Amino acid sequence: MELEDIRREYCKGGLRRKDLLADPVDQFNLWLQQAIDAKLTDPTAMTVATVDETGQPFQRIVLLKDVDQRGFVFYTNLGSRKAQHIEHNAKVSLHFPWHPIERQVHITGVAEKLSAAENMKYFSSRPKGSQLAAIASKQSSRISARGVLEGKFLELKQKFAAGEIPVPSFWGGFRIKPESIEFWQGGEHRLHDRFLFSKQQQAWQIDRLAP
Ligand SMILES: Cc1cc2nc3c(=O)[nH]c(=O)nc-3n(C[C@H](O)[C@H](O)[C@H](O)COP(=O)(O)O)c2cc1C
Repeated sequence: MELEDIRREYCKGGLRRKDLLADPVDQFNLWLQQAIDAKLTDPTAMTVATVDETGQPFQRIVLLKDVDQRGFVFYTNLGSRKAQHIEHNAKVSLHFPWHPIERQVHITGVAEKLSAAENMKYFSSRPKGSQLAAIASKQSSRISARGVLEGKFLELKQKFAAGEIPVPSFWGGFRIKPESIEFWQGGEHRLHDRFLFSKQQQAWQIDRLAP
């Protein structure tokens, strides 16, 4: 099989302006629910793109943990590469690739750190193993061997065997306040439907884009 021959038709139906909800976050929530109902693998997984100080883009997947009118939330290590990028340039891009339902959503916006109270609320809801791993892993730093990580994990497991695990100061969430949200629905003959919501002061402008 040649890579050139790998293709498929998109035929799950179009997206018409009359079917769009007026608010893009409501529209996103509708599509997210449909992605969950369709039993997609990791429906909340999104790619986050950031740029480093030279303008070099980087991308990685994180899990969406909350979304409302204020924005899209994910949690991470605050010393990680992505967090360092955001420190320098808070403009980020998010992308949801929902292949089986022939949809993607693309978001641009500005990242801001969550409050300590929000971090604590989510951290305390996580399984203990995830809490320990968050402390054990100095995310994005170079390590000599996997054993270093496992040793640290075991050490922390013993240390916190009885009591609660405090939220580490170097761990927390970001909320991406959206400035644009684009909805893409695959169409027959590559005539896909795209609608771009762009924030204009308080209102959202809606434009159809060529595929
Ligand atoms: C399905 C999936 C979910 C992930 N979820 C998260 C997450 O919620 N937070 C996180 O920090 N990393 C998550 N990761 C790991 C990141 O993709 C990435 O490797 C890590 O955050 C380090 O990125 P950085 O070095 O660019 O900061 C996830 C990876 C995958 C494949």
